[in-house]
Amino acid sequence: MAIVITQQPAFLPLLPIDDSIIVTDSYQSYLERANSLDLSLLKSKDIESAKKLLRETLAVGYSTTFLNQFIYNKDSFCFCVRDTIRNAVIGVIGGKISRSVMDSTVCTGHLMILAVSTTWRRFGLGQQLLNKLEGAFCDGSVTASFNRRTQLRSIYLQTEIANTNAIRFYENNGFSYEKLERGYYGSGKDGVVMRKHVC
Ligand SMILES: CC(C)(COP(=O)(O)OP(=O)(O)OC[C@H]1O[C@@H](n2cnc3c(N)ncnc32)[C@H](O)[C@@H]1OP(=O)(O)O)[C@@H](O)C(=O)NCCC(=O)NCCS
Repeated sequence: MAIVITQQPAFLPLLPIDDSIIVTDSYQSYLERANSLDLSLLKSKDIESAKKLLRETLAVGYSTTFLNQFIYNKDSFCFCVRDTIRNAVIGVIGGKISRSVMDSTVCTGHLMILAVSTTWRRFGLGQQLLNKLEGAFCDGSVTASFNRRTQLRSIYLQTEIANTNAIRFYENNGFSYEKLERGYYGSGKDGVVMRKHVC
């Protein structure tokens, strides 16, 4: 799926061309680069590049095994935006659906990872990735594999309370604060659970 850039951010960051960096103030040059972006399911060949992106943006080293779950587990999904010219993953989102232990007719989506390369932020890529994952979560063919009557009720995620950019992004997408998780990201680093009800 081709990416359509729908918005112009307040300022334009450095735009990397191959291995060199150029400074640009041209929105047009971003639009031209957008022609080489592609959004689709994560594949094995993307894993090393996705790991690099996650390390750089979230400062967390995700393993190949962790990312493989999205490729091989039918209830897990991972989509990525690829820069096909540089052969690099510049955006990634992943999550899985699980059945409620309390009520087998209810299942819940867990948004587990989301990152967009700093160079490409505020162009709507995070939004398009989230739309894609929510679409996959809501696709009846997946929930039907649990139980014919199973319904996806909500999608939740955890993020660090200090990550105000991400919290604003999620709030703008209909997620609201559910609870605080003290020390979830280590000593003195609290997390918040945010949830969006979908049905
Ligand atoms: C959060 C993140 C994925 C957003 O990606 P993005 O591609 O920049 O997001 P979009 O361009 O699609 O933004 C959509 C809307 O979300 C909101 N938003 C996104 N980034 C924001 C920011 N830094 N500050 C305020 N609002 C923001 C805005 O409403 C924005 O629309 P607008 O630009 O028209 O105002 C990105 O900032 C990121 O990768 N951050 C680091 C990793 C991270 O924190 N991941 C989440 C951990 S759970």
